[in-house]
Amino acid sequence: AERTLVLVKPDGVSRGLAGAILARVEAKGYQLAELKLLTATREVLEQHYAEHEGKPFYEPLLEFMLSGPVIAAVFEGERVIEGFRSLAGATDPTTAAPGTIRGDFGRDWGLKVQQNLVHGSDSPESAEREIGIWFGA
Ligand code: GTP
Ligand code: MG
Repeated sequence: AERTLVLVKPDGVSRGLAGAILARVEAKGYQLAELKLLTATREVLEQHYAEHEGKPFYEPLLEFMLSGPVIAAVFEGERVIEGFRSLAGATDPTTAAPGTIRGDFGRDWGLKVQQNLVHGSDSPESAEREIGIWFGA
């Protein structure tokens, strides 16, 4: 079955929303395959966010992602990559649709980065690459 990497970012964990977020993904029907709580390292984040290096939000994004523990999870199921991204909602939590994770739980907190609670892989190639980064080949 298709797999995706889901991260509950530090804002989700520190606000006590990790369980609620994972429960929504499970309730939609996707199967939890891997799960751990960890504080990321700069090395892991540089690999994970390589496509954003040089952008104005890159350094604030890494600092934010290093600010506390995250949940890393792998979910499985038919079309789970697009299914999770639909459930997560748009990148900007202020305008993400109500009913989505970001739309229901997120807003702008005035930082230089969008604290938007979750990450989900955006293609099968990204998913396999990211699962390798967070869980080892
Ligand atoms: P992810 O699922 O986290 O990858 O979000 P995404 O795919 O919706 O966004 P993208 O991969 O383009 O960017 C990664 C992360 O960088 C986002 O989730 C935000 O936390 C942050 N980010 C992206 N674009 C911007 C932006 O224009 N401004 C700011 N401040 N932060 C951004
Ligand atoms: Mg992305």
